[in-house]
Amino acid sequence: MSVAEIFETMEYGPAPEGTGPALDWIKSHKGAFGLFIDGRWTKAKSGEAFETTSPSNGGTLARIAQGDAADIDAAVAAARAAQPGWAALGGHGRARHLYALARLIQKHSRLLAVLDTLDNGKPIRETRDIDVPLVARHFYHHAGWAQLMDSEFAGYGPVGVVGQVIPWNFPLLMLAWKIAPAIAAGNCLVLKPAEFTSLTALKFAELCMEAGLPPGVVNIVTGDGRTGEAVVNHPDVDKLAFTGSTDVGRLIRGATAGSGKKLTLELGGKSPFIVFDDADLDGAVEGVVDAIWFNQGEVCCAGSRLLLQEGIADRMIEKLRARMETLRVGDPLDKAVDIGAVVAPVQLERIAKLVEQGVSDGATLWQPSWACPTEGCFFPPSLFTDVSPADSIAQVEIFGPVLVSMTFRTPSEAVALANNTRYGLAASVWTENINLALDIAPKLKAGIVWTNSTNLFDAACGFGGYRESGYGREGGREGMWEYLKPDFEASLPLYDGEPAKAPKAAAPAAGNAVDRTAKMYVGGKQARPDSGYSRQVLGPDGTLLAEVGEGNRKDIRNAVEAARKAESWSRASQHNRAQILYYIAENLDARAAEFRDRLTAMTGAAKKAAEAEVAASVSRLFSYAAWADKFDGAVHSPPIRGVTLAMNEPVGILGIACPDEAPLLAFVSLFAPAVAMGNRIVAVPSPVHPLSATDFYQVLDTSDLPGGVVNIVTGDRDGLSKVLAEHDEVDGIWYVGPMAGSAMVEQASVGNLKQVWANHGRRRDWHDPVQAEGREFLRHAVQVKNIWVPYGE
Ligand code: NAI
Repeated sequence: MSVAEIFETMEYGPAPEGTGPALDWIKSHKGAFGLFIDGRWTKAKSGEAFETTSPSNGGTLARIAQGDAADIDAAVAAARAAQPGWAALGGHGRARHLYALARLIQKHSRLLAVLDTLDNGKPIRETRDIDVPLVARHFYHHAGWAQLMDSEFAGYGPVGVVGQVIPWNFPLLMLAWKIAPAIAAGNCLVLKPAEFTSLTALKFAELCMEAGLPPGVVNIVTGDGRTGEAVVNHPDVDKLAFTGSTDVGRLIRGATAGSGKKLTLELGGKSPFIVFDDADLDGAVEGVVDAIWFNQGEVCCAGSRLLLQEGIADRMIEKLRARMETLRVGDPLDKAVDIGAVVAPVQLERIAKLVEQGVSDGATLWQPSWACPTEGCFFPPSLFTDVSPADSIAQVEIFGPVLVSMTFRTPSEAVALANNTRYGLAASVWTENINLALDIAPKLKAGIVWTNSTNLFDAACGFGGYRESGYGREGGREGMWEYLKPDFEASLPLYDGEPAKAPKAAAPAAGNAVDRTAKMYVGGKQARPDSGYSRQVLGPDGTLLAEVGEGNRKDIRNAVEAARKAESWSRASQHNRAQILYYIAENLDARAAEFRDRLTAMTGAAKKAAEAEVAASVSRLFSYAAWADKFDGAVHSPPIRGVTLAMNEPVGILGIACPDEAPLLAFVSLFAPAVAMGNRIVAVPSPVHPLSATDFYQVLDTSDLPGGVVNIVTGDRDGLSKVLAEHDEVDGIWYVGPMAGSAMVEQASVGNLKQVWANHGRRRDWHDPVQAEGREFLRHAVQVKNIWVPYGE
C-alpha cells in the first residue's frame, strides 16, 4: 500500500479540545456575568439578563446581563472621568499597558480560543491559530503606536470617549480591532459585544484588571441592539466605531447626523473571487475554501462570488465539488473539523431562506453527498452555478457557507462583474500573471485586494471598505487616524450665531449696471442654469455686483455626469496632475490684480487683505502641486512571505460645499487637494460670495485641466449639497459651513453611505496652513487600498 493510499483509506478519528478550563471559568462567575464598568463588575440596573448558548448543541453557557441606557450612562461617565488621566499617562505609559494586555492574551490564549468556539460555533482550529494570535498581534502593534504617538502623530490628540459596537462573527478579534487603537491613542471607551458572543469580551475585562488598566479606560456593557442604540445615542460620546450589518450601519449614520460624533463603519460585503484561466487551479480551490468556508462564511470580506474565466470554469467547478466532498462539518471543538456551527438559529434560517430563494430563482444548487449534522446550527457548504448577476443570491450578503459562481470572458468583463455590487470590501484575484493581477487590483472597487490569496489580515495593514461596505480603516497608521483629532480643532470658533454678512437689499450699481451674469461650469464649459433663474450677488454696501445661476437638481446631475466622464483624471500620472496645478497657480498669479479687485468688491476686504488672499491661494496651489507626487502610499511587510501595498486611491467623485469667508482661498484650499489626489469634483461656492469661483473658470480653462474634473454649480449651498449627498454616483462630500448644513449632509448621505467630511459648524482660519493645508486634507481626498502580494514558488 502506498502512502497516498493509506491517506485515502485512513479512518477519521475525532480530536476534541477539552472544555474544562473554560467551563470552570464560567463556573467561577457562578454562570452569570455582570457589566464591567469603572474597573469592576456591576449589576445591570434593570436586573435583566439573557442566556448565551452554544450553537453547536444549543446548551446554555451562561447568563449575560442586559445593559440599558442607565448602564451606558454610568459607563460613559466612567470613561469620561478616566480619559484625561489616561491621555496624560503619555505614549510610553499607555504602551506598557497595551504590551501587558498582549502578553496576557498570549498567556490565556487557549482559554480565549475555547471560549470563542463555545460561544460562536467557529472551529477551534481557527480561533486557536488565527483569531487569538491576531488579537495578540493587534495589541503588540498598537503598543507600538502608543509609544510613537508623540513623534508620528504630532499635533494630534485623542478624540475623547469612544463608543464601540461589534458583531458576533469574530468576537475577540473585533474587540481587539476596536479597543487597541482607541486606547493607544489615549481615548477611553465603552464597548458593547454582540448579544450572541459576549464571553471573550468578559474574559478580556478580567485581563484588563489583571493588567492594572486604570478603572474606566475600558468599559464593557453587554446587551442586544437596544444597548447598542444607547451607546450610539449617548450625547457624551465623541466617536463611534461600528462593525456589523449595513442596515444597522445606515441607522447609526442617520442617528448621529449632526451630532459631531466621529464615525467609522465596517459593514457588509459581497466580495468577488476572480480566477483567470492561467491560475494555479488547485491553489485557487484551496483559496476558495479559505474564502467562503472559513468561519462558516460568516465573514464580512468572504469571497462569496466566484468569478471564473470561461475556459477553466467547468474544470474549476469539478475540482471544487471534489474538494467540497472532503470538507468536514461538525463539532467546532473537534480539531479536525473544517466548518463549525452557524452562530444562532436565526442566522441559520436566514441562510436557508436565501438558499431557497436562489433555487426558486433558477440557479443550480450543489451540496456534498454526506449528511450534515442535524442537531445544532449546521449548514453544509453550498455552491450555486447558473447564477445571473442580478439574482438576489448574487447581490445579497448571505453570511453563510454559500458560494455563487459566474463566468466572464475578458479581464475587463471580470472587473465589471466584480464591481457590480453595492458593496466594496474585498476582492481576490487569481492568476500566475503578476502584470494582470496588478493591473486589475486598482480597478476593483474594494478596500482590500488579495492576489493569489484570500482572507489575510495583519495589524499593520489597514482594513475597511469602499461604498456601502462603510468607511474608515482599522489597523495600521490609517486606523490610528480614526481615533485622533487635530489639537487646534477644539479652539476653533463656531459659525453659528453669526449673522450672514450679506446686505439686505440691492442698490443699483453706480455708472454702468451689471456687466455680466456668470454661468455654471460643467464639463469644462460654461452652462446656463436649468432653472432659468439667477441670484443676485451684492457687494458689502448692497451694490448689485453681478448675477449667478440658481443651480438646481438637474445642474448637479449634469455636473456629476461630467465628473463621471472625466474618469481618466483619476488615472492621470501624479506628475501630470502636479504640472496642471502649477499651471493653474501660474494663471491665477497672472490675474492677481483682477482677483484682488473682485474680492474687494465682493467682501469689502481691504486691498492689502485681498492681495494677501490671492497670494495665499497661489501658494496653496503650489503646495498641492508639490503634494501631488509626494503623498505616497506604503509598503507593509506583514508576517507572510510577501508585501502589502497600501495605495492612496482617489475617493472618486467628491461634492465640495465651500464657506463664505475667504471665498477664493477657501475654495482653492478645498478643491486643490481633492484634484491633486485624482478626484473629480462638483463644487458649490459660497452663495453670498461666489464670483471669485465663477471667475476661476477662466483660470481653469487656460490651464489644461481636462473638462469635467472641476465643475462649479452656484446657488443655495445647502440645497445643492443635499442633492449631492443624496446622489448615488457621488462618492464623498466635504461640507464647510454652518452647523445645520453638516447635519443635513450627514443625514442625506445615508443612501449610499458616502463618506462625509463636515466641519460641524467650526470655522477654520484659511490663512493658517496648520488648519487649512496639508496631510489632513489629503487623507480625506484618498481611501487606502491594501493590495496583498504574496511571493515565492
Ligand atoms: P447587526 O448589525 O444587527 O449586529 C451587529 C451589532 O450591532 C450587534 O452588537 C448588535 O447588538 C448591534 N446592534 C443591532 N441593532 C443596533 C442598533 N439599532 N444600534 C446599535 N447597535 C445595534 O447584525 P446581525 O443582526 O447580528 O446580523 C444580520 C446580518 O448582518 C448578517 O446576516 C450579516 O449579513 C450582517 N452582518 C455583517 C457583519 C460584518 O462584519 N460585516 C457582522 C454581523 C452581521
